[in-house]
Amino acid sequence: LPRPDFDLLLFGASGDLALRKLFPALYRAHAHGLLHPDARIIGIGRSAGNDHSFRQRLNETLAREDGHAWDAFLRRVHYISADLSQTDAFSALAQTVRPDVQPIAYLSTAPDLFVPVCRGLAQAGLSRARVVLEKPLGHDLASSRHINAEVGRYFPEAQIYRIDHYLGKPALQSLLPLRFDNLFFEPVWHSGCVRSVQITVAETLGVGTRGAFYDRTGALRDMVQNHLLQMLCFTAMERPASSDADAVRDAKLAFLNSLRIYRPHEADIYAVRGQYAGYTAEPSVAPDSRTETFAAVQVVSDSPRWAGVPFYLRSGKCMAQKLAQIVVDFKPAAALFGQSANRLTVSLQPDETVSLRVAAGGGQTGEMVLDLAAQSPERRMEAYETLLLEVIGGRLALFNRRDELEAAWAWATPILARWQEPSAPAPQIYPVGSWGAAAADALTARNGDVWLPF
Ligand code: BG6
Repeated sequence: LPRPDFDLLLFGASGDLALRKLFPALYRAHAHGLLHPDARIIGIGRSAGNDHSFRQRLNETLAREDGHAWDAFLRRVHYISADLSQTDAFSALAQTVRPDVQPIAYLSTAPDLFVPVCRGLAQAGLSRARVVLEKPLGHDLASSRHINAEVGRYFPEAQIYRIDHYLGKPALQSLLPLRFDNLFFEPVWHSGCVRSVQITVAETLGVGTRGAFYDRTGALRDMVQNHLLQMLCFTAMERPASSDADAVRDAKLAFLNSLRIYRPHEADIYAVRGQYAGYTAEPSVAPDSRTETFAAVQVVSDSPRWAGVPFYLRSGKCMAQKLAQIVVDFKPAAALFGQSANRLTVSLQPDETVSLRVAAGGGQTGEMVLDLAAQSPERRMEAYETLLLEVIGGRLALFNRRDELEAAWAWATPILARWQEPSAPAPQIYPVGSWGAAAADALTARNGDVWLPF
């Protein structure tokens, strides 16, 4: 692949995401020779500092793999301390960008800065920049629409890269060829054969030092509205007209638009929230917080393909295991030699596998396991490295389009609104290290299902 030159303006350069994910991802791309030799990374932050002190900071914060590559990487990194409420801050930034290379503005900041930063960049003459927007993109449908509309005044949609880092996970990407380039799956991928679809993203850690952010956010906004819905889109959307970015995004949009929007009493039936024991004692969390650290929802699609098929989504902090997986549970065949039901599991983490449960001899079932990591001769990239390289290459397929994101918010917002009401059931407390609120079992049990694997 070509390695286009760029100047990356990284807003929020000393933030948690930049230090934990973005700099390590850029470093790996650099160390593997994937960045143009002249490309630069210009960190921008509120705190005072210069190139030297910022490099020093990276030196202290990041684990280094190799001295030589690391030193060369640091030479790409610059730092500008800027007060973004001042318009001249942007002219200073614009002057540091080389006129003949692609500017990329990565907004790893709170969403309330998205609009002022985009306005500042455009007014300073950087309207040819690509703009990368981190999640959360808004707080609900109205705020997300507002941000998109305002950002859209300064930058055309084709220059906007809305991040959902789950789209950079290779096992999720593999679902599309798996479904659409094989003969075996698509013919049985519908309500005639599928009993349920279950998506779980469980984490073992709690909110850690992100209490202030998380307490305003909660699991439905933090994980379900974006990562889990995207996983569901890949699993359940119709075949895209082509493999183009926009065709795939059209197919996702059509699926999102088929989701039933819940009224308050339906939200009480189909959505469950939980909170891990001890959450309210975490730093920067309100002592009487009703924020959910676990959410489980039964999603219903009105598309003919999925009539009557429950989609169960659940995600939480402080759970028993760190895992992300999609399980497609098939209806039992009219078994001749014993009991059997096929089940396809796509695991995004900790393993990257596709496994198919099949009936084998002696009334037994066995698993056919495809190890995606072992299949690929290339190095496995972490999601953020993949996504950064996509932005640098100008490829939009792995990013959310505005209408898609708003459709996801249109689905999530009524549930969030219901949870704001005092009459809504309070989050159920669950023990650290469990599978979340026990009430989630009622979601599956209502349809005679259980959470898988059990
Ligand atoms: C982020 C959430 O989007 O995803 C975090 O804000 C969460 O709360 C993280 O921990 C999980 O990502 P991954 O790649 O570790 O599954």
